[in-house]
Order: sequence, then C-alpha cells, then structure tokens
Amino acid sequence: MNKKPEGVSTRGKTADNRLRRVDNFMLLYEPALLTRADGPFAQSMFVDLGYGFDPRTTLESAARFRKINPDLKILGVEIDKERVEAALPFADEKTLFRLGGFNLPLENGETVRLIRAFNVLRQYQEKDFVSAYDRLAEYVLPGGLMIEGTSTPFGSVWAANLVRRVESAQWSLEALVFSTNFHTGFDVEEFQTILPKNYIHRVVKGEPIFDFFEAWKRSAAETAFAKAFGLKQWFAASIDALSQKGFEVDCRKKWLSKGYLIWYL
Ligand SMILES: C[S@@+](CC[C@H](N)C(=O)[O-])C[C@H]1O[C@@H](n2cnc3c(N)ncnc32)[C@H](O)[C@@H]1O
Repeated sequence: MNKKPEGVSTRGKTADNRLRRVDNFMLLYEPALLTRADGPFAQSMFVDLGYGFDPRTTLESAARFRKINPDLKILGVEIDKERVEAALPFADEKTLFRLGGFNLPLENGETVRLIRAFNVLRQYQEKDFVSAYDRLAEYVLPGGLMIEGTSTPFGSVWAANLVRRVESAQWSLEALVFSTNFHTGFDVEEFQTILPKNYIHRVVKGEPIFDFFEAWKRSAAETAFAKAFGLKQWFAASIDALSQKGFEVDCRKKWLSKGYLIWYL
C-alpha cells in the first residue's frame, strides 16, 4: 500500500459519458463477470485505472454496473494526488479512490474482477506496455478481464484490447474491439488513429494489424453499396466481408447493429 506508484502522471482530460460505450460493451460482453459472487469474486472489485482530473467516468460506470450488481465494489486509481483529492468527496463504503499506479493500491485480501484503463497507456511509450500489463495481471482473479484502450475526446470512436487473466498470472489476448456511434461517419482509417499502444506504431507491412486494416478497408470499399441503407448497414456489411476473407470477427447482429467490431485473437 505504501509502495511508490508505478507510472507517470499524464494529462487528465476526460468528458461526461466518454466511456459509456465501453461500459455498455462490457455489460453486453460478459455481464456475469460483473455479477459473479462465487468465492473470492463476491468481494472483488471493478478498478478504473487513471480516471482523470475528476472521477466522473468512474461514477458513471458505478451507476451503470450497479444496475445489475448493487453491491459491486469500485476502486478508482489515480497516480496524481490532486486527482485523488478531487474524487474523495464522492467516495462511500463501496466506492473507493486511492493514489496508485500499475502496482494497484490494494489492501490485504482485496482482489479485482475487471480493470478498465482508458486513455492512460496512450501517453506512455510502447516499451512500457508489457511491464504495465504484467504488473496489472498480478491483481486480477483468474477469469477476470481488462479492457485497455484509447478513445476520441468524447468517446464516439474507440479501440481496445480485451485480455483475460489466466491461471499463470498472465493475460491471454482475447480480442481487439472497435467501437463507433457513427457520429463521425464510418471511416476505417479513423480506427487506426486511436489504436492501443501495442498496435499504433505497427500498422506497417508485415504486421498482422496492417493486414487486418488493409482487408477491412477493402471490405468497406467492396460493400460501399450498403451506404445507401445507412452507415450501420455499411459497417455490418464490411465486417461480413472481412469475415469472408478469413478474419475471426464476430458477425452477430447484437454487436454489429450497435457499432461494435470484435476481432478474436
Ligand atoms: C487522459 S486521462 C483519462 C481519463 C479517463 N480514463 C478517460 O478516458 O476519460 C489519463 C489519466 O491517467 C492517469 N495515469 C497515468 N498513468 C497512470 C498510472 N500508471 N496509474 C494510475 N493513473 C495513471 C493520469 O494521471 C491521467 O489523469
């Protein structure tokens, strides 16, 4: 608990409901993770790492997640002392705010079911990525998840790694998720600009993420006729075409109609 927080203080910008679609994605992807009450899961927390200059996104998530689990414990973690102080007036017995870093400030016996880290690692260097992930894996219960990604300033477009904690205190890469509410249209290239840190510098020939984007762009061009029926239909058609090219993307309507692309890794 007294250990020096690992990481560096970065810009604290956030916005109302910026992460609403991230929460909605989690609620649709695995609601059972938020409601699990078996063994250590009963007391385990949702951690919002790097919530920004005030805890609005943490409190918004608390309201959303507690609709399905009123007892869910939530911990907002910030590496910036003033931002922790700004959040403390909003704390209660199940909503906690603490100073910390990638070495999470957990107290004896506390465990984690889900970590959300949004717009945090984008301000780090690529070389910091693996050590941050390794450290965070230590705290999550086997079966738990982390969603770590980057969004546009108001959250209309985002991309995130979805990783699951496996028994060996490591992460297993589960999916790369893309989200859009179509407010800025539909342009595959827009997703490239907000890729998580492990991909953003890798959209170059020879890398799988490059092939993925080339194939998605081709798929969007091939299905441009669907634009006539609206952007959502075009988005969905492009992903069907991507699937036909052999990419393991989720073509179910429950995702595509809401502007989510899940690429299973
Ligand atoms: C841009 S804000 C993101 C706020 C919010 N998550 C959002 O997406 O709107 C990033 C925040 O992460 C914090 N931060 C950076 N590194 C951190 C670390 N290792 N541990 C905890 N917080 C960190 C910064 O102090 C900053 O307030």
